[in-house]
This record gives sequence, C-alpha cells and structure tokens, in this order.
Amino acid sequence: MKITVQQKNTGEVKTQAIVIGHWQDVKNEDVERLDKQLNNTIQQAIKNKEFTGEAFQTKTISTLGRFPFDNLIIVGLGKQKEFDTEKLRRATATAILSAKNMRFTNCATNLHTINYHATTEEKTTAVVEASILSAYHFSEYKTVDKEKITTIESLTLVEQKNPTLVEKTAITAKIITEATCLVRDLVNQPASHITPTTLAQAAQKLPKPIKITTYDKKALQKINMNAILAVNKGSSLEPRLIILEYKGSNDKSIALVGKGVTFDSGGLNIKTETGMETMKMDMAGAAAVIGTFKAAAELRLPVNLIGVLPCTENMINGEAYKPGDIIHTYSGKTIEVANTDAEGRVILADALAYAEEFKPKAIIDLATLTGACVVALGPTYAGIMGTDDKLITSLITAGKQTGEKIWQLPLTEEFKEAVKSDIADVRNLSTWGRDAGAITGAAFLNNFIKNTPWAHIDIAGTAWAKEDQHYLKKGATGYGVRLLIRFLQE
Ligand code: BES
Ligand code: ZN
Ligand code: ZN
Repeated sequence: MKITVQQKNTGEVKTQAIVIGHWQDVKNEDVERLDKQLNNTIQQAIKNKEFTGEAFQTKTISTLGRFPFDNLIIVGLGKQKEFDTEKLRRATATAILSAKNMRFTNCATNLHTINYHATTEEKTTAVVEASILSAYHFSEYKTVDKEKITTIESLTLVEQKNPTLVEKTAITAKIITEATCLVRDLVNQPASHITPTTLAQAAQKLPKPIKITTYDKKALQKINMNAILAVNKGSSLEPRLIILEYKGSNDKSIALVGKGVTFDSGGLNIKTETGMETMKMDMAGAAAVIGTFKAAAELRLPVNLIGVLPCTENMINGEAYKPGDIIHTYSGKTIEVANTDAEGRVILADALAYAEEFKPKAIIDLATLTGACVVALGPTYAGIMGTDDKLITSLITAGKQTGEKIWQLPLTEEFKEAVKSDIADVRNLSTWGRDAGAITGAAFLNNFIKNTPWAHIDIAGTAWAKEDQHYLKKGATGYGVRLLIRFLQE
C-alpha cells in the first residue's frame, strides 16, 4: 500500500473516499462542516437513528461532485472516554473494509488526528497498521473471478499540523506492517510450498545486513542435533536449522527462537481430521522471527539479534520416531518421547540449547506449541512463561501497545516435576497428560535453558484466525512481528 501525507483541509483532498471518525457523545465539528455542503445528510441519518456514532458503525455518502473526493465514509468511534488505540485500529479496519467492499482502490483519512489520550506517533502507527492489515488478501491460488479481487492500493493521511512527524511515523509503521504481511504469506502458503528448504530460501531473501547460515541434514548430524533429526525421521523432506544474525549494535544479543514445523500431522500419534487441517501454520513462530528480522534490518534498529529456527515436518513413514524412543539431544540431556505430536518442544530443545551458546542477554521463543494454550486463553491472548519476570513484563507491555495480547501463566516447581521421566531426563508429555498442557510444555523447554533470562510465548491460538475479524483475515495473523519490534524499540 502506498502511503502519502497531504497538508490540506479534509475537504480539499482528491480521492475516491475520505474516512472520517464520528463520536457518539461529543461534537463532531469536522463532520458537521462537511455535512453542510451535503444537505445535512449525516444529520438526517442521525435523526433517523440510521447512524449513531456507535463504535465501528459506518455510513458512506456520495458527495455528488460537491467535493474533490467522491465519497465520505464516516465511521463510528463510540464514546470518547472509552476510546483507545485498539479501537482506533478497529475503526480504521472497518472503514478500510467498507472502502474495499465498494471496490475503491484509494482513500484518504484523518483518523490519526482524532482526539483521545495518545500521541500522534501512536495514532499514526495504529491507522497505518490497521489499513495495511485490513487491505491484505492471500489470493495467489484463486483462478476464477480474479478481477473481482480489488484492494486499497493507496492511502492519504490528511495532516495539518505536523506532516513531517506523521510521514516519518507512517514510513516506520509501513515497514513493520509489511513484514507482518510477509509472515502472513509464509504461514498461509500450503505445506507443499513452504517446506524447511523453501523456508530457508525465503530467509535468504532478507535484507543484506542479515547474515544467514543454514544447516542441512548432514550438518545437523555432524553436530548431534538429534532432537530435530528425530522429529524429521518420518518425513521425506530434509530438515533445516536456519541461523539469522543482525548486528545493529555492539550490545549483547537477543536470541529469537521460532518453531518451524512446516506441517504437523502429529506423527504416529496422528491428529484428527479437524486437528490436522490447519497444521501448515505450525511454522508461524519461525515465520514471525523472519518477519522481525526483516523489519529490524529495514528500520536499522540499534540492536544485536540472533535468530534460531529449527525447521522440519512432523510426518509418518516406516522410519518415523515412535512413542517410547529416547533422544540424545544437542545439549546432552535425554528426552523420552511419550507422544510424537508433542514435537515442537523436541525440536526447540536443540534450538534453545544452541541459541544459548551465543551468550545472549535474553532468549525469547515463539511457538505454536500447545492446543492446551488455546483451550486456556482462546484466540486473542498468547500465553507467556519463563524464567525472568522483567523480560516477561516488558513483552506483555509491548503487546498491550500493539494489540497483541499476552497473559502470563505460572511456571513453578510442580510443573517441572510433571515432565520428569523415569528412564530419561525429561518426557515430552507430562505425567498429567494434557492437564495444564501449555505450562508443562514450557516446563519441558525450561530444561534446555541453563541460566539466560528466557521467555516462551505460546502462539498456538493467536497465530491463526478462524474467522475474519477487524484487521485480521481468516488465516494467518502475522502475530509477533509488531510485538517483538515494539519490545526491541523500548
Ligand atoms: N502444533 C501443535 C499445537 C497446536 C494446536 C498449534 C492447535 C495450533 C493449534 C503441537 O505440536 C501439538 O500437537 N501439541 C500437542 C501436545 C500434546 C501431545 C502434549 C497438543 O497440544 O495436543
Ligand atoms: Zn504436534
Ligand atoms: Zn506442532
């Protein structure tokens, strides 16, 4: 999406549609001024209770040549006291979607200037993010009625006071949001297209300052990454371990680890029909790390980042790993495989131990790790657990700012006890079965962290949307990029 800033009055912009906000409970001077020239159409609509200004209501009015813009889209903002930045994102999304439904390809807005308790940067970022995310569509494989698919290609931000600041902020927000869309594309692609090898190829396309190293199967065998290799045994596709390095500063690094299971059939503990249907998304953690590196490099963030992405399918053939198997992991610790569907934690065991060798100041992993996390928190909150409350709090705070909500679950002794094995060091399925499954997953991972501050974010619920909702489209959400960039910016 092309984004420009114009220093004009809202009434002066030439575009197919201008989007303007309308409060439910305070005077809307901007709208009233325009309405006068539109024969008080809006006032009439309010009188008829057709439009009340309730949050996310929209009304489109054709200007019949009375303005340089063809249509006015007013979007309800609700009550001013109840307004916040997430509501701004959703209001923007609603307006962009109605413009898109009318097959407009360009529009303008001053939504970033509405008056509530937030900075210009925060408001501009929200409007740009929500616009690009709502205009997103994944239609590569559509062959019928392709011409019916249109989207908003350009957006003008109408700004009187501070066009320089708004433009600078919009450029940053666009970089971060486009990286989020890259993540959506990677996750939405079928598993036959995004394999460990092609995911590594996608990483190779990251901007220049990022250094990329990939380990193929032979290289993984050489260094005893036996946990990744065990999960890979049932697949006819080679695994890859992708290492990303971005050095924007001389500080100690932050390691970002992402689960990259390009398809999770469950292995011999095979998934059900509905459980398996969306399992091309099981590499959303790895994709989020790739997106974060892209944005960090394009923004030249002054941070030092290491990315560690263990990538494999979890499939079944005569060689597939089995319940009862014991794996000698890269760290030296042994895993008893109790359930082949708990494969994410197995590959992360090797990846986390490897990440710690870089001596980072913190390790953050993102993983679509457990269905139990979805049961506990649903589709809007990711779960977070770890060893460092300061790190966890910073991530939760960043998430509050970007609208990527996170909730901390306890990671105390009893959970660590539950993943101890009789015959190996740890079991990949807790002795409690699926009870507290999100936490016992984290407790398992904890065994592969020595003493680096570590946070694990379970994105099983948030990485994928079952329905269209505001700025999320059914399918991949791109969860994590905006969150991690905000965290790194702080
Ligand atoms: N990839 C799944 C988790 C998942 C479930 C992600 C739903 C997204 C949506 C993971 O590998 C898995 O299958 N976990 C098992 C663990 C269990 C066997 C301990 C689960 O959640 O059932
Ligand atoms: Zn699984
Ligand atoms: Zn999985």
